[in-house]
Amino acid sequence: MNQPKRYTITAALPYTNGPIHIGHLAGVYVPADIYARYQRLIGNDVAFICGSDEHGVPITIKAKKEGVSPQDVVDKYHAIIKTSFEDFGISFDNYSRTSANIHHETASEFFISLYNKGEFIEEVTEQLYDEEANQFLADRFIIGTCPKCGNEESYGDQCEKCGTSHNATDLINPKSAITGNTPTLKQTKHWFLPLDKHEKFLNDWILKGHKKDWKPNVYGQVKSWIDDGLRPRAVTRDLDWGIPVPLPGAEGKVLYVWFDAPIGYISSTKEWAQREGKDWEPYWKDKDTKLLHFIGKDNIVFHCIIFPAMLKAEGSYVLPDNVPANEFLNLEGNKLSTSKNWAVWLPEYLEEFPNQQDLLRYALTANAPETKDNDFTWKDFQARNNNELVAIFGNFINRVVVLTHKYYNGTVPEPSTFTDIDNETLTTLKAYPAVISSSIERYRFREGSQELLNLARLGNKYLADEEPWKVIKEDAARTQTIMFVALQIASALATLSEPFLPFTSTKLKGILCHGEVAEATWNDISTKNILLPSGHQIGKGELLFLKIEDDTIQNQLDKLISSKAANEAANKVAEPQKETITFEDFIKLDMRVGTILEAEKMPKAKKLLVLKVDTGIDVRTIVSGIAESFSPEEVIGKKVTVLVNLAPRALRGVESQGMILMTETPEGKLVFVNPDDNTVTNGLHIS
Ligand code: MF3
Ligand code: ZN
Repeated sequence: MNQPKRYTITAALPYTNGPIHIGHLAGVYVPADIYARYQRLIGNDVAFICGSDEHGVPITIKAKKEGVSPQDVVDKYHAIIKTSFEDFGISFDNYSRTSANIHHETASEFFISLYNKGEFIEEVTEQLYDEEANQFLADRFIIGTCPKCGNEESYGDQCEKCGTSHNATDLINPKSAITGNTPTLKQTKHWFLPLDKHEKFLNDWILKGHKKDWKPNVYGQVKSWIDDGLRPRAVTRDLDWGIPVPLPGAEGKVLYVWFDAPIGYISSTKEWAQREGKDWEPYWKDKDTKLLHFIGKDNIVFHCIIFPAMLKAEGSYVLPDNVPANEFLNLEGNKLSTSKNWAVWLPEYLEEFPNQQDLLRYALTANAPETKDNDFTWKDFQARNNNELVAIFGNFINRVVVLTHKYYNGTVPEPSTFTDIDNETLTTLKAYPAVISSSIERYRFREGSQELLNLARLGNKYLADEEPWKVIKEDAARTQTIMFVALQIASALATLSEPFLPFTSTKLKGILCHGEVAEATWNDISTKNILLPSGHQIGKGELLFLKIEDDTIQNQLDKLISSKAANEAANKVAEPQKETITFEDFIKLDMRVGTILEAEKMPKAKKLLVLKVDTGIDVRTIVSGIAESFSPEEVIGKKVTVLVNLAPRALRGVESQGMILMTETPEGKLVFVNPDDNTVTNGLHIS
């Protein structure tokens, strides 16, 4: 075997201002985990590193909103997030947090080291200030229009729409996220990393260097950033939550979160090395180490420009070999959103699909946003499970295990002569490790997951063609050979599925009693002729995957819609009361209960229905703006409240002689003010 290579694999440190959802898993943690597990399996030396990103403005904002301290917020979500990662089998060698002492020390030392080398510019500049909140506005405390793409909700440090990272003072029409006020400018001293000074290095390293093998989305973003010209970036902030700037005269200032967080990869590695009695330095400083950052696309500039510039300026570190960033995952056609509660949260998923982590890992991998934004739908999730995991993978294993028990009491039979089909099948089997390796090594995890499934398809096809259940009646020796071959495929599946489906892999190894033979490694599958020897006893079968019924999926869809609506209702601010009217004003209104006799759509008007209403006095025409909420058919015969003495008014040439009174439910649905109806409503609308 080749000399093991050293890999330092990092996954973006999640902000601890909420639990994590399927978008995080699909974009960063599952691909990183597949990669790390794979590298370990083929015998390489891996440090798979992550931790919680506990500084930064999002944490402070969350703390303010909940009326607790930032430390309370990070303690709560650090625990929740860490548990989710464990639950989903994300096999970090270390999961640390940036509030840990070791991180404060490491980040402070890093800053001082750059400071002592003269790598910073120290400058007093004017920064945005909120007079009312009495504080400087950095990063997410400021919202304004992105100078690059025109997004009106860009943050002070980064536009989430186009990914550009900018200085807060570049924003057009900036507003404080705390008070909504337009900020003023106030002088303050900060330390800047002169990115312009590193432009040549970055240009040579990424654009002229060998980085053309980076994913096109990553390379493209970096190129456009460099082509636009780099400018100095402040790496300190006037905030009270973060790592204090370790210099005299810098009271009240902390390190910018995007300065400290990536150093968190280094501190987490140190923490791991201390625990394991290893030396951390080769994992960051030996030129043979491959450093890889798994991130989402909004993190590209920080990992491809700013952090490498920091590492280069420090001088003793290796630079990332690759930054395989993914695009975003949407959910049922809409952007995943924490604030709108449009998400599938990992703790909730596990409550509803206990022990089905591999299913979610698989559905997210098979549909991963590798080259473009992608959509997660519950229907696709169901189909991936029922048509792929259950019908192909699970079905193959089940048949092999059941038949082995039925014919041979669970013992791997002795094969007789191999036919051409057997030999071809075994040769194809031997090619799979290389096929799947090639996908994983090129960060094509979707493709890899499909190749794994193709191996199960190979097994199914082999059984369907060779029909051991028929052959057993006339040719015992041939049946033994068929089952022997099928068992070799099952054994290979147990090993090759490990990066993608770690829980299933463990289960399957248990069923096949892998531990009791020399367990086949990734490489064994292509080199050894026998993975499960004749005479080996396998264990009891159990189903690897369970079919998911339609109503389970419908429940998830309903839940998504109702939790979004509940969230909207909770966040809904009631419209302020209108100006007071006198009793004399009020009694002027003549309201009657009427019945809608006829209804039809107003031609070429999306919102209008033309109604004939029996008011008890007469039958009259009323044009009503309810066509987006009701069809003509459903309103005919309805009892409604009508304001009958409103001055007539022509709408699109039709004279409307009155108004129908409407109101709104908390979910925002229009309903009639109807004497027979008891829907809970909000306030009156006049339609
Ligand atoms: N917390 C950031 C995010 O969720 C990622 C930080 S990655 C690190 O977008 F490099 F800074 F650690
Ligand atoms: Zn933008």
